[in-house]
Amino acid sequence: MSDPRKLFIKTYGCQMNVYDSERMAEVLGASGYVTTDRAEDADMILLNTCHIREKAAEKVYSELGRFKPLKAANPDLKIGVAGCVAQAEGEEIMRRQPLVDLVVGPQTYHRLPAMEQTLRDGGRAVDTDFPDEDKFDHLPKGRPRAKRGPTAFLTVQEGCDKFCSFCVVPYTRGAEVSRPVARLMAEAQDLVDRGVREITLLGQNVNAYHGAGAGGEWSLARLIEALAGIDGLERIRFTTSHPNDMREDLIAAFAEQPKLMPYLHLPVQSGSDRILKRMNRKHTAESYIDIIDRLRAARPDLLLSGDFIVGFPGESEADFEDTLALVRRVGYGQAYSFKYSARPGTPAAERKDMVPEDAAADRLARLQALLSDQQRAAQDAMVGRTVSVLFEKPGRLPGQMVGKSDYLHAVHVTDARATPGMIARVRITASAPNSLAGELA
Ligand code: 5AD
Ligand code: SF4
Repeated sequence: MSDPRKLFIKTYGCQMNVYDSERMAEVLGASGYVTTDRAEDADMILLNTCHIREKAAEKVYSELGRFKPLKAANPDLKIGVAGCVAQAEGEEIMRRQPLVDLVVGPQTYHRLPAMEQTLRDGGRAVDTDFPDEDKFDHLPKGRPRAKRGPTAFLTVQEGCDKFCSFCVVPYTRGAEVSRPVARLMAEAQDLVDRGVREITLLGQNVNAYHGAGAGGEWSLARLIEALAGIDGLERIRFTTSHPNDMREDLIAAFAEQPKLMPYLHLPVQSGSDRILKRMNRKHTAESYIDIIDRLRAARPDLLLSGDFIVGFPGESEADFEDTLALVRRVGYGQAYSFKYSARPGTPAAERKDMVPEDAAADRLARLQALLSDQQRAAQDAMVGRTVSVLFEKPGRLPGQMVGKSDYLHAVHVTDARATPGMIARVRITASAPNSLAGELA
């Protein structure tokens, strides 16, 4: 038999893309590809792209340019663009970049084997449909039962019907779809059988999950409860959520389900009601804070994470100060903040009342200073506490292991007893800028 063909995948953007890249590797595995982490060795290169902000999309074109010499050296090399830029700009990519042989959107990667055949027959292939069939049903069965690391992602819900006025996701990922409970239970069991101890449930609106289960539609809380019944699965997380879908049973799960980790990413975007209305968020600063209060009543040590956009069209200095006030009121342990970026096809992109670039940059710097102070304070507050750590891999120093605490902080421990996949109580002894250090308790 000839050598297997080699596949190089580069993943941008969110965790769902990480999951999708794994699944694309499995699909192409059935067509005889093995993955490589060197683009120079590849027979096929796939860029799994992100369209959420302008910079993310521009990176794709500059990256493609860098593959030119590889294609010159190996005319049989196939280059594909997958993910959300593919979905949004597929035809344009084909026109703009003759290097590209293949464009595949996030909902059609189960069709990759047929597309790959088209390329081998000398053609180019574009598929950015939103097919009726479920791509997850068409992925190869009897996947390679390779052992896995201790943590994994599992997509339970995809797409979004919220239509925040700045956001491309409803257009690139399509309408909200929840996968059926039985499939997810089987996939989770398979992951656990392969060594996984922590699963992060993924969805653009994961807390809107309403998949078909025994007796009707199940909520995310009910799914989490069922998953918690899997022996050997020790930790469950989910991301990312919309405040309006934060239902009572899910809030209660933080109090009642010990396998659900005390960390929640709950984006608010802005602290100004005027801006939230223009963003079409359908909640207010007050209603968000009310949810946070209820979550903290259920789980006082919950570590909160969020997303923020500054410089949304029409944002005044007073609106921005409302965002700072909300951040002070909530207190985040982790956060992501962005300058508004107009995305073609979204309602906000039509607005003319742009915030000047220097004002937006200044606000971003001020917000990030506040958020990073909070982040640092939350991390420093762990010193002296004993937390549970799931060890994942060796650290950079000899004998060192790195893992994640229940609160998702990276923790370093130097101890021969610590091994990947092990969950141990660790007493935190020091806080560095991006990680904690501790010793087995
Ligand atoms: N401009 C800036 N940030 C954006 N996000 C989404 N769309 C935009 C945009 N057009 C941010 C939001 C979202 C996160 C994933 O990306 O904060 O929660
Ligand atoms: Fe985008 Fe809003 Fe949907 Fe999140 S909830 S994916 S920000 S439209």
